[in-house]
Amino acid sequence: MTKVGMVGAGMVGSAAGFALVLRGSCTELVLVDKDAARAQAEAQDISHATPVSHPVRVSSGGFEALAGASVVILTAGANQKPGEDRLSLLKRNADIFRELVPQIAQAAPDAVLLVATNPVDLMTALTAKLAPNQPVVGSGTVLDSARFRALVAARVGVAPQHVHASVLGEHGDSEVLGWSSASVGGVPLAQVLDLTDELKQDIEEGTRGAAAQIIAGKHATNYGVGAALALITEAVLRDRRSVLTVSGPSLYGPYLSLPRVVGAGGIAATLKPDLSPEEDAALERSAAVLIKASQGLPE
Ligand code: 2OP
Repeated sequence: MTKVGMVGAGMVGSAAGFALVLRGSCTELVLVDKDAARAQAEAQDISHATPVSHPVRVSSGGFEALAGASVVILTAGANQKPGEDRLSLLKRNADIFRELVPQIAQAAPDAVLLVATNPVDLMTALTAKLAPNQPVVGSGTVLDSARFRALVAARVGVAPQHVHASVLGEHGDSEVLGWSSASVGGVPLAQVLDLTDELKQDIEEGTRGAAAQIIAGKHATNYGVGAALALITEAVLRDRRSVLTVSGPSLYGPYLSLPRVVGAGGIAATLKPDLSPEEDAALERSAAVLIKASQGLPE
């Protein structure tokens, strides 16, 4: 039995719930939202995918329905409007989390808390503060790494699964693409692709700018992050020890994304990425952006 709680049944929460069911990531899924009718309707709709996918029991309820969950995914909060950046959501979403997280921790004290709400690095750090006795993981740049891998894969002409490439630092405008450690089937990317400035700039813009482009067209992003959340959840539920660029504490100071081993208790280890001096300096700058933004939050 593997139960997952989803707090926030909006665009992201419902897409993540749908991904969990299609992948058969868990045996039970419960949606919780301040709009109970929305949570109930999303649960009903998602449950209709179970006969053609996996027999997951899908329901909705209040915080008490999270009891027994092994993972609780937090997607509640405001999302970006066209032209807004993720950091501008900080105060609004921090207020929401101060109210939600203690109730989640009380209802599901044994759960790993998986945070997706933006700005995700700062919201993950806040969640860790508000629920100090539970493992906390942020979805971080798992989605950005997927975007980077997909763009590289298309250029090389291979399946994205065979591209190893990480986006590090903030899940946001200061994120750092790890070109120097990227590889295809174990072969350094620079040996497979002519990494001209133009190509790198194209892929950098396609990765870093993806959310803004999608939000301009549909006012939200949800499927990519939903799939990323299902992947991270499975790594925890099945103790997969997958290497994923989730957000957590770092030697750079703030919570940010680095390649980390994810298993039953959340983050089991952090790998030290092989960075060029330019990438390392960019990661320091990304950390500084997060430190500065966090100063806007009262203790
Ligand atoms: C994304 O990158 C908006 O953070 C969200 O899709």
